[in-house]
Amino acid sequence: MAKTIATARTLAELRGHLAKWRKAGETVALVPTMGALHDGHLSLIELARRSADRVVVSIFVNPTQFGPREDFRTYPRDEAGDVDKLGKAGADLIFMPDVVEMYPAGFSTTVKICDLTNDLCGAARPNHFDGVATVVTKLLIQCDPDYAVFGEKDYQQLLAVRRLVRDLDIPVEILSAPIMREPDGLAFSSRNVKLTPAQRKSAPVLYQTLSEIARDLESGKGCDATLVKARFKLEAAGFRVDYVSVRHPETLKTLEGPVRQARVLAAAYLGQTRLIDNVPVPLKD
Ligand code: PAF
Repeated sequence: MAKTIATARTLAELRGHLAKWRKAGETVALVPTMGALHDGHLSLIELARRSADRVVVSIFVNPTQFGPREDFRTYPRDEAGDVDKLGKAGADLIFMPDVVEMYPAGFSTTVKICDLTNDLCGAARPNHFDGVATVVTKLLIQCDPDYAVFGEKDYQQLLAVRRLVRDLDIPVEILSAPIMREPDGLAFSSRNVKLTPAQRKSAPVLYQTLSEIARDLESGKGCDATLVKARFKLEAAGFRVDYVSVRHPETLKTLEGPVRQARVLAAAYLGQTRLIDNVPVPLKD
């Protein structure tokens, strides 16, 4: 049965809830989101519930991680739908600050992760990871959770957050959950609702292409040839490819020498909508 879920819109309200739980000796997991929740988010919340006594879900469409020509204004928002889903998912609290609560007048601090973020999504979205790092740092300080849960869909973000937490000695365990997909393979994303029906039909080609690359690499085929074929397939399906690349799963560097695992990552546009996806690849020595 869905419970009525508490909402905190200010830091003071958030800290009031946290203080009660801490006093009772309860552990806390934070699931940071930008709302427009889908099954991918719900799987993160499920993991949070299994890991801690209390689950806080933050919903904040963070302006500092969007570039000037990106979709901050049109990013999907569905507060009523999110509240309903979170009640059913068994979260304990929604932290839903507004922009002024998070970035009061005069706010002038940026957290920058120098490694891991310049390439891939960072190359096309120059200040994106500074915005993510700054807001995630704030959320972790505000909530002081035992666990924070991030999805593997934003794989580069996940690695960057792990690095951030390690570098700044933030006492939280970062948990990750695998990508959730629609039956046709498309990774759940808040941006999927922006696809036209025709684009939605083409969208699963992204995952199909990454899976083909993974199969090629697993069977010993060369990286360069499979990537050329992949780009061609994506373009033929109507994508404008930002990148499709095979990387080391921890450093995100291009592969050199024998490695046992790799990650294939891609970002590509259908119309104005940017989709990202990635798959793991076990490799032979
Ligand atoms: O992955 C997201 O939804 C966002 O980048 C995050 C981590 C909530 C920070 O705004």
